[in-house]
Amino acid sequence: MTKASSSFSLLPAQIAPAQTALLTWYAAEQRDLPWRVTSDPYAILVSEIMLQQTQVDRVLPKYQQFLALFPTLSDLAAAPTADVISAWVPLGYNSRAVRLQGIARQVIEEYNGHIPDTIDELLKLKGIGRYTAGAIACFAYRKQVATVDTNIRRVLHRIFLGLEHPEPKANEAQMLILAEEVLPEDEAYNWNQALMDLGATICTSNNPQCTRCPLQETCQAYTDMRQYSLFPSGTVLRQLRKVAEKKPSYQAQPFTSSNRYFRGRIVATLRSLPTNERISLALLGPKIKPEFCADDLPWLQQIIAGLVRDGLLDSAENGVRLP
Ligand code: ADE
Ligand code: SF4
Repeated sequence: MTKASSSFSLLPAQIAPAQTALLTWYAAEQRDLPWRVTSDPYAILVSEIMLQQTQVDRVLPKYQQFLALFPTLSDLAAAPTADVISAWVPLGYNSRAVRLQGIARQVIEEYNGHIPDTIDELLKLKGIGRYTAGAIACFAYRKQVATVDTNIRRVLHRIFLGLEHPEPKANEAQMLILAEEVLPEDEAYNWNQALMDLGATICTSNNPQCTRCPLQETCQAYTDMRQYSLFPSGTVLRQLRKVAEKKPSYQAQPFTSSNRYFRGRIVATLRSLPTNERISLALLGPKIKPEFCADDLPWLQQIIAGLVRDGLLDSAENGVRLP
């Protein structure tokens, strides 16, 4: 056994039945998703960037539209950035559009237009993290690698380590080691997709449906919940979370969330202007915030600076516009 398994005390007797149960369930219940019927690494890259912060249902129509507008990596690399942002706007978190195009351009310049197939090379692309690198290596090139996003982390934690509240029993790096440890041989693709499906449909964050879960028999969290009579789990999870969230962090949060809202409003307003036309901050302010006044200018400038940093905005003395 490797170090990882001993540090988590995972037993082969627990791993194998969990693998079989999940893969069997996935074979019967998998969701039909368009990025699962393609092996085009570019299409898979687009889907993964979209899915990073947006739910599957909202991604589905946008994924098809985006690929219709930019069918290949070279099309995307060559397109005006403003067009790419425009196509992305309904999804939100628009800096992803700039990042995606940056990746396409880097692949054209440094990799002859061929998206790399190893995690190490994928990680050299600016804006690709370990999760996305793993997802592309696995889903596009069928590499036998583990990959851990928020959903997979929660599901693996519950199955193998127990409930993640009030305190996770492993940090991010440890969860990746665990994910590698439990990866079934030659089944990385189905296993990783299956973990996502289970996390999206049954083992959800707030309301896991343990009674209809194929992993019930082998799941550590389910065992814990029964042992402490914590079932039904939805309510308990919420209570446990509340306790865990008691530690306050007052400042940063509201500012970032409202920022995101206004960032979206700014980009939407600029899109409604004729191409290349600039707007001054004094005129832009009231368009995004009806009660805007002079005191709000520093605030607006700060948001603008963030958008410029993310490549979403072009700012000059006579105003701002899309790049
Ligand atoms: N979220 C991220 N990648 C996904 C995928 N391949 N299928 C479903 N949801 C996902
Ligand atoms: Fe998640 Fe419950 Fe299934 Fe365990 S039994 S994997 S906690 S839904």
